[in-house]
Amino acid sequence: MTAAGRSFTGHRWGRQYASGMPLVRPASPADVVAIARIYGAAVHTSVATFDLTDPPNIYWERKIASDECGDHVLVIEDGTGVVGFAYSAAFRPRPAYAQTRETSVYVAPEAVGVGLGSLIYLQLLSLLREDGMHLAVAVIAQPNPASVALHEKLGFELVGTLQEVGRKFDRWVDTGWYQLPLER
Ligand SMILES: CC(C)(COP(=O)(O)OP(=O)(O)OC[C@H]1O[C@@H](n2cnc3c(N)ncnc32)[C@H](O)[C@@H]1OP(=O)(O)O)[C@@H](O)C(=O)NCCC(=O)NCCS
Repeated sequence: MTAAGRSFTGHRWGRQYASGMPLVRPASPADVVAIARIYGAAVHTSVATFDLTDPPNIYWERKIASDECGDHVLVIEDGTGVVGFAYSAAFRPRPAYAQTRETSVYVAPEAVGVGLGSLIYLQLLSLLREDGMHLAVAVIAQPNPASVALHEKLGFELVGTLQEVGRKFDRWVDTGWYQLPLER
């Protein structure tokens, strides 16, 4: 079941954020503009994503609409609106990968460093455990000390590096491959 079909009302997380605290919830199509803005900042200023141009809104709409087990798009709101999102998607399309999910998280530049990334990512990982997913994989283009710190804090371990696998801003970029077993 996709997160879009779930309500967090009455959930342990919903209670935790009930009084003015940041709220994490499944994304809806109405969130695409905010998601695209946050992602666009990473596209145009960093190697955090290997996209070189903004993906069309339909890219996010399809992710939000996915009903594949283990696929989720979550957003995190503070008093100003949506300030971050996290998502999980198929690692690779072959069926033997069905219980592995690639995960990612983006926080708006004006909202980084106050714990929102940890908050939303923890909830994404919790959903993956509820779904019976076995392994989360995160691919972190280097350098990205904030993302490395976040993933290591949540238990991900570096299992390998692909050297010069991408090219952005006129330089070769390495990717660190991080994994987190979800059933331990
Ligand atoms: C990576 C990102 C999601 C982290 O979100 P965040 O809300 O700033 O993260 P948090 O505030 O929850 O911090 C998580 C941990 O990382 C550490 N951290 C955050 N920024 C850091 C930085 N620039 N350098 C080193 N450590 C950093 C924090 O201290 C914290 O650890 P602690 O709780 O032990 O102190 C955010 O920086 C971001 O969106 N970056 C651009 C997009 C991106 O790189 N996404 C990841 C793609 S792989």
